[in-house]
Amino acid sequence: MSIHGKAKRITTQVLQEMKNSGEKIAMLTAYDYSMARIVDGAGVDIILVGDSASNVMAGHETTLPITLDHMIYHAQGVVRAAKKALVVVDLPFGTYQGNSKEALHSSIRIMKESGAHAVKLEGGAEVRESIERILTAGIPVMGHLGLTPQSIYKFGTYTVRAKEEVEAEALKKDAAMLEEIGCFSLVLEKVPAGLAAEVSGAIGIPTVGIGAGGGCDGQVLVLHDMLGITQDFSPRFLRRYLDMSEQMNVAISQYVADVRSRDFPSEKEQY
Ligand code: KIV
Repeated sequence: MSIHGKAKRITTQVLQEMKNSGEKIAMLTAYDYSMARIVDGAGVDIILVGDSASNVMAGHETTLPITLDHMIYHAQGVVRAAKKALVVVDLPFGTYQGNSKEALHSSIRIMKESGAHAVKLEGGAEVRESIERILTAGIPVMGHLGLTPQSIYKFGTYTVRAKEEVEAEALKKDAAMLEEIGCFSLVLEKVPAGLAAEVSGAIGIPTVGIGAGGGCDGQVLVLHDMLGITQDFSPRFLRRYLDMSEQMNVAISQYVADVRSRDFPSEKEQY
């Protein structure tokens, strides 16, 4: 039986065993109870309550506006649903950068108020102190390198990161540092597949890629993108498993027609 199959609950130790034995890790986002129940039931290892909720759930252009209270609200529903998956929650923009005490306070709020199992934050050397302080409280931390959407106004675009030697070298150094200080895993977003494979081979902790190729130890996608609920986002790395937006449109249009034609409710659908 696979390591995932044997585990009652996915822990950071189980993820490490998966990396050690070459079993790939499947991670997806979820932001609410109903979706998280389906995701968990389908056998996903890690559910990420991503700050992509800012785009997907609230309709913002970037991840910057979402607050810690919003993230905790989303995480609470996901934690109630997740019977097996490890639940990781993004620290939102402005709650951990440049102030390690605030980073610890934000992480403790997430763990205490939502019951999640770990936090994730973006960046390397510049957030080292924050990560170290969070780890002192026994809170598992997942790193995030490459395209880090909270820095979109610094990058100016969502294109592939670390194509040039200097940025690639800095990323490799950051990945090694994140492992050394005690992160249990890290996300590699939108970096060349060769670089992601090199980093995944060089460090001992599991890497989870998004637009970073098959050499990572696991993969993550935004649930609403892979189900085809979001429509106007089609990067090359995205595989759509459903056209849910179209399927929902058909179902809802039929409901509207049935109400208007008095077909719904029928005699059997009333008391
Ligand atoms: O917020 C998010 O959904 C993420 C993933 C893209 C990794 O950080």
